[in-house]
Amino acid sequence: MTNENETATLASRFPTGFTWGAATSSYQVEGSTGADGRGPSIWDAFVNEPGRVVDGSNGDTAIDSYRSIPEDVATIKALGLGAYRFSLSWPRICPDGDERVNEAGLAYYSNLVDALLAEGITPWITLYHWDLPQALEDAGGWPERATAERFGRFASIAHAALGDRVKHWITVNEPWCAAFLGYASGEHAPGRREPAASIAAAHHLMLGHGLAARAIKAADPEAVVSVGLNFYPIHAATETPVDLDAARRIDGVQNRWFTEAALRGAYPEDIVEDFKAISDFSFIEDGDMETINAPVDVLSVNYYSRFTVTGNGGATSASAAPTGAGSAWPANEHIGFVSSGLPVTDMGWEIDPGGLTETLTRLHAAHPQVRLAVTENGSAFPDKIEDGEIHDPERLEYARAHLAACADAVDAGVPLVGYFAWSLADNFEWAWGYTKRFGLVYVDFETGERSVKDSGRWYGDLVRRARANR
Ligand code: NOJ
Repeated sequence: MTNENETATLASRFPTGFTWGAATSSYQVEGSTGADGRGPSIWDAFVNEPGRVVDGSNGDTAIDSYRSIPEDVATIKALGLGAYRFSLSWPRICPDGDERVNEAGLAYYSNLVDALLAEGITPWITLYHWDLPQALEDAGGWPERATAERFGRFASIAHAALGDRVKHWITVNEPWCAAFLGYASGEHAPGRREPAASIAAAHHLMLGHGLAARAIKAADPEAVVSVGLNFYPIHAATETPVDLDAARRIDGVQNRWFTEAALRGAYPEDIVEDFKAISDFSFIEDGDMETINAPVDVLSVNYYSRFTVTGNGGATSASAAPTGAGSAWPANEHIGFVSSGLPVTDMGWEIDPGGLTETLTRLHAAHPQVRLAVTENGSAFPDKIEDGEIHDPERLEYARAHLAACADAVDAGVPLVGYFAWSLADNFEWAWGYTKRFGLVYVDFETGERSVKDSGRWYGDLVRRARANR
């Protein structure tokens, strides 16, 4: 447990002007999926297929954020946060995925932005957090180049409506998940199991990033443009060549593929070679890598856990495997994930705060030109509400340890500009439905009622102290 002195000391370790926030995404919180002209997304279709979501639930209501702007903004304010990261539902704004704009959908985000700004809370907008308009999936989805081009135009539409008030733009969130869970392992929407198509999807997600980043910068050179990637330190189970090679492959796909494309304008050579087993890369056109290499001001880092891998598959323990890990491809089917014995969260993810420092320092060493922000970090644990209180010491300790890890990175010279807890409130955890709670705020999924957890109070206290330190 922490005491006040420890919290004050931790708060004092962050630089002036540091951004303190919490994050959500549209499909996970909004609900109102049929309201005011919103079109269907791939998640609306996916959740209706039996067996896709463990508790058979969906995002039709979620935590009703579409109808709760005043409550949500009051919650963020009560926690003392300076920023809120949320995503735009593309089909709410462009119901058919084309340029027909649904003004009512845009109005929701415009109202949310105004309500945040009125309380001095800075909006950080994610343009794509996995809810592709179903019409674009019907036309082939992310494996098709046209989807990336559509996304570039969507970015322009969104920026034209909100860019007068919003400066922080994250183009694409976790393209690894969107491409490989969506199109290789099939654990996420649209649920396809087409390894070759998933490599094309990954490329078009990055092309979409580049087109969106360039469109936003052209409209507003002062905009702070970012891409959101998920990182995990990868360890080899042993020093044998076969395990070391497995670690190289998974690290390459997970940590280097998207980062090097965005920040160096080239995919890592060794992983291109690995992927040649399943892809001829014919979807890469001249100029694509330059487009993808658009200037990025801040790299958004999502961090939860680490993985230990072996090249002798079959050793995979369900709890140690990341959903859809690299073994979704034929060329990686010999790779397994093993436990390294660390404590785990309710997701079965090993808790490794030092891995966050390692991730941030490694990224800074490889890409010194970009600032970094932790745009997601948090933990699921089962919660019980007792007399209106939620005591969640494990989530609080996870947050404390990972914020100390951020401070260690700052001490090591990493230009870290912000931290966003995942998540502001409990919500729809994709294929896990409502069975996993990540919130700083507890949500009664029957009534929608919100109650701040102990972890939320602690984080709010830390943030208030850090923000007062100037
Ligand atoms: C990554 C995703 O961006 C977010 O949507 C998800 O809920 C969290 N990680 C937790 O799994």
